[in-house]
Amino acid sequence: MAESVFIPQNSTRKDIYDALLPQIDGILQTETDLTANLANFVAVLKEAFGFFWIGFYWVKNEQLVLAPFQGTLACTRIAFGKGVCGASWKEQKTILVPDVDAFPGHIACSSLSKSEVVVPVFQNGKVVGVLDVDSDKLNDFDDQDQIGLENLIKILEKHLPKMQ
Ligand code: SME
Repeated sequence: MAESVFIPQNSTRKDIYDALLPQIDGILQTETDLTANLANFVAVLKEAFGFFWIGFYWVKNEQLVLAPFQGTLACTRIAFGKGVCGASWKEQKTILVPDVDAFPGHIACSSLSKSEVVVPVFQNGKVVGVLDVDSDKLNDFDDQDQIGLENLIKILEKHLPKMQ
């Protein structure tokens, strides 16, 4: 496995997402441990974009439970349908939130978080987790982030069957 990632400088977010795709694929190729892979996935995205908070919540006993992340202290458990993460799980789709204060039921783990995007992770047609990305700026995410993150999550989903 490569010990560093190549991150294009002075580039658009789209170009960075595109550059990360094959690299994430390579990183997930050889490791079978789920926690190790989720940890490196968020580490690479944190390094590439400097997101305020990025991490996974994983479905365990019908709750979302905090999994590998980069950022400040976070809520550990989220119920089905609650907050942006629980809504993404329930609705089985990506949710972009330009202003978290305008999202009914948003769970504020940090008062500094202003906008958010949550992408569900599927295995065998079921949501097994979500990727949550928070920004300390309002309206920080757009369609390019949604497409870029969803493409990266598709790579993760491809490798999930071999992970434990
Ligand atoms: N804001 C999320 C909770 C998780 S934290 O942002 C890390 C939500 O409303 O589901």
